[in-house]
Amino acid sequence: MNAKRWTTDSWRELPIKQQPAYPDDGKLKAVEESLRTMPLLALPSESRSLKRELADVAAGKAFLLQGGDCAESFAEFSEINLRDYFRVLLQMTMALMYGAGMPVVKVGRIAGQFAKPRSEPVEKQNGKELPAYRGDMVNSMEFEEAGRTPDPERLLRAYYQSAATINFLRTLASGGYAALTRINQWNMEFAKSSAQGKRFAELIDRINECVHFIKACRLNIDDVEQFAHASFFTSHEALLLNYEAALTRHSSADGKFYAGSAHMLWIGDRTRAPGEAHVEFMRGIANPIGVKVGPSMTPDALLKLIDVLSPDNEPGRLTLISRMGSTKIGELLPPLVRAVKESGKIVVWACDPMHGNTIKSPNGLKTRKFTDILAEVRQFFAIHKAEGTFAGGVHFEMTGQDVTECLGGAQAISEIHLSDRYHTHCDPRLNASQALELAFLIAETLKKQKGQNA
Ligand code: PEP
Ligand code: CO
Repeated sequence: MNAKRWTTDSWRELPIKQQPAYPDDGKLKAVEESLRTMPLLALPSESRSLKRELADVAAGKAFLLQGGDCAESFAEFSEINLRDYFRVLLQMTMALMYGAGMPVVKVGRIAGQFAKPRSEPVEKQNGKELPAYRGDMVNSMEFEEAGRTPDPERLLRAYYQSAATINFLRTLASGGYAALTRINQWNMEFAKSSAQGKRFAELIDRINECVHFIKACRLNIDDVEQFAHASFFTSHEALLLNYEAALTRHSSADGKFYAGSAHMLWIGDRTRAPGEAHVEFMRGIANPIGVKVGPSMTPDALLKLIDVLSPDNEPGRLTLISRMGSTKIGELLPPLVRAVKESGKIVVWACDPMHGNTIKSPNGLKTRKFTDILAEVRQFFAIHKAEGTFAGGVHFEMTGQDVTECLGGAQAISEIHLSDRYHTHCDPRLNASQALELAFLIAETLKKQKGQNA
């Protein structure tokens, strides 16, 4: 496969999984044509910056926080939702920065995270069968024929929503919203106003002391460029290659091709087979990329995949996002980590503790237990410590809203509460309080580990 020349269209000749069956090919082609003329959402120079930051993560000098919706939707798009999401992400960053004692690289699952792989191509309800919902970028969630028919116009709508999203988040990141003192203030409010927060009051106090100390040294902390502004990058699953290819452009600065729909793209656990379209597309773009690594991965297959996706072994190029499940990670991750280490391949290892821990609650809703999520993350850190490798980061499905989709946490969401505010268009997300609680628990773990190493 590698012997063949890569082009933005070379994936079209290979088998491809998880694609919508568009009824009108002409309409799809017309949409692709118009996407090809659209401005990029992420610039190659920014993708190169992210790759440099991820190279630091691979070297154990920075920590990656990647998070956002399972699936963005047209209905939940609003300024307030974006603001709330970004605020929680910043608060989590502060906790992790303190715990890890390192810079935190912030990558949103946002501004393009609209398309979903599904376990079944069709859905049946009361004897009726329709195409499965594949995300707002493809069709609509309502179970009726017209809405479930894939419509290429939705690619354009997702593009415009992504453009507005990234524009707003850039403004927040650079406009003082992300100032350290402000984030610290939010965390102090979290500590004061909620039972969940009170558990971390001591930790938050210590962070507060640090902020005051820096302030004392540097006069005005919020004037310091690094603290006043937060670099923020976007990412999503590269599932719909028609969309991705149309937004991929040549960069004259280094002569390479970059996907311009986001700074970083990843491929899912179901579309990572070598010799197929998704791997072919990903190998040719120069962005930092990720691959989900689930229970079916073997050490041999992983090394082969790394050879295809990161042939130059460039630091920051490849992030392996492990998503084994809390009962399997202990057995399945160590051999993979060992094989990669022994091969000398440079990767970022990140932990997605969401996708291996999805269960069905008795009322039929998909959910995840906070305790399983935490257990997977803790094992991830312990495994890397034992193997002498870096636990580079975490990958969460989360929202800034007060939803009730995952069970547990200090808020003690139980099965009877699940349907109260269950808004996700796909998988269950951590709500704002659960996400923050998790970040503080991870910060505590990291701090303890550092203490032991000192
Ligand atoms: C996802 O990240 O939403 C997803 C579908 O993940 P995976 O490919 O790991 O199942
Ligand atoms: Co998901």
